[in-house]
Amino acid sequence: MKKLMAANWKMYKTCAEAAATLMELADIPVPADREVAVFAPFTALLSCHEALKGKNSAIRLGGQNCYPAKEGAFTGEVSPAMLRDCGCSLVLVGHSERRAILGEPDAFIGEKVAFALACDLDVVLCVGETLAERDAGKLQSVIERQLYAGLAILPDSIVPERLSIAYEPVWAIGTGRVAGSVEIEEAHRLVRGALRARFPIQGDAMRILYGGSVKPENAGEIIKLDNVNGVLVGGASLQAKSFGRIVAA
Ligand code: PGA
Repeated sequence: MKKLMAANWKMYKTCAEAAATLMELADIPVPADREVAVFAPFTALLSCHEALKGKNSAIRLGGQNCYPAKEGAFTGEVSPAMLRDCGCSLVLVGHSERRAILGEPDAFIGEKVAFALACDLDVVLCVGETLAERDAGKLQSVIERQLYAGLAILPDSIVPERLSIAYEPVWAIGTGRVAGSVEIEEAHRLVRGALRARFPIQGDAMRILYGGSVKPENAGEIIKLDNVNGVLVGGASLQAKSFGRIVAA
């Protein structure tokens, strides 16, 4: 299984800035056991796609969200087909900022996962607990609730490479406070257990990414941990040099 090194650019970068960063990134060698994905803002996807065309690069483009319908009266939303049209092969679903700020419920996130996969987009489903939930001893119940709802309406047989989980403790996102090795391994073990319970045959082959204050300085240690099959990087992915160091870490 190749490790998935993914950049989440959130609501940063104009078209020109995104394309320039991606061009720089495309020149950085990717180790053979790794795969690189960039989740760019919707508005910059097409310019990123165009920029990559001349580059012979294996970097994959992804959207940061999608709406679970083919098309329709859903003002402000973007469909999986529209993402594919802009060169995306994957999509991020259920990021904690969308859960917390946009109020996305677990079941709606589950609809997106199923619909995106059915529309030929690979999915990275994000899960993770808040500090209050962790302090209240709810780590396992929160992760299992988010995972079971997120995966509820999928067929029982799916290609494992097409679905990854990103474990992102909310208290570690954008805070500079990275989870410790013990905390990461414990949470990833819980995710793996839930994946096995849901997909007895493919659960072991699905990638589990860690996200939350991953930096060039700590990526090497994190990527070696048990059940860590990649990283999802916000702040430290905005500069090609910094993200390039993480990809090679
Ligand atoms: P961060 O964000 O690396 O800036 O903590 C990670 C994420 O939100 O995906």
